[in-house]
Amino acid sequence: MPNDTAFVPHPVRADILAIALAGLTASPKTLPAMLFYDDEGCRLFYEITRLPEYYLTRTETALLSSLGSAVVPDGFHDAVLVEFGGSDEAKARILLDRADSPFTTYVPIDVAGPAMTDMQARLSEIHPALTVVPVVADFMQPLSLPLPAGPRMGFFPGSTIGNLDPVSATRFLTAARESLGSDSWFLLGADLRKSPKILLPAYNDASGVTAAFNLNMLLRLNREAGADFELDRFRHEAVWNDRESRIEMHLFSTKDQVVSVGGQDIAFREGESIHTENSYKHTREKLISIAAEAGWAIYQAWEDPAGLFGVMLFRAG
Ligand code: AVI
Repeated sequence: MPNDTAFVPHPVRADILAIALAGLTASPKTLPAMLFYDDEGCRLFYEITRLPEYYLTRTETALLSSLGSAVVPDGFHDAVLVEFGGSDEAKARILLDRADSPFTTYVPIDVAGPAMTDMQARLSEIHPALTVVPVVADFMQPLSLPLPAGPRMGFFPGSTIGNLDPVSATRFLTAARESLGSDSWFLLGADLRKSPKILLPAYNDASGVTAAFNLNMLLRLNREAGADFELDRFRHEAVWNDRESRIEMHLFSTKDQVVSVGGQDIAFREGESIHTENSYKHTREKLISIAAEAGWAIYQAWEDPAGLFGVMLFRAG
């Protein structure tokens, strides 16, 4: 099933066929979530974040905005904000735009170099005094970061932690602690476990944007891996796996069929699925215990009034 390979984004073209074949010849069939994010996939994901059913983005934004300086530890000033996966500054700006922001340096880490150059230009207009140091890297690996002396805060919003299985999440949080150093803090935004009555519509939206996002992966393989998927022969569905506490995204074959991928025939039975993504929905306690295993001690935790989404501040233990 999809695992941390979801976060080795933007593979080079030659790798895509190998990655696709590895997943499609496995049993059950899988494709890694990293394949979602070509240009069209990024556009569709942005549309997802604006869907009425997809409460995550607007709930986290409202929560972070309402918390104001409460997320900043006492005595924090001349501090560095290090965002993991930060090719879009929208969430960081909730922290950076405050008149009392303690952050004088912002270090976004992402593989999307051009997007970060654009972001740096935007931020230099809005915050001329802010030092922006983009780091083009895979944030799943321990990194030697160019951090000035002084207080540091890691930032991982957007519930991306939920796309990692718990072992990979611990591995990521351990690597982040090592990259940030011993006297550091970490601010995490994560969607919380809740009724599938709320979760399922968020991933099976009525207007079909999430379906288009999921199916776009097959279009990408047609283009970049010499595949001949016919999109009307697959159906998107997100399902709730209660035991694993996760939403699973699947593409179900609507008939018995054979698809050629880079010249190799892949047989599908009617109803057989390609598992494309996991989105774990942990309780606050589970998130705190995953972080504790990675050496982060909980300092304070907040939720929105409906208890949908959590923001947690940790200190390196
Ligand atoms: C990026 N990530 C937090 C999204 C999520 O909710 O797991 C990806 C997504 N997949 C379908 N809809 C949104």
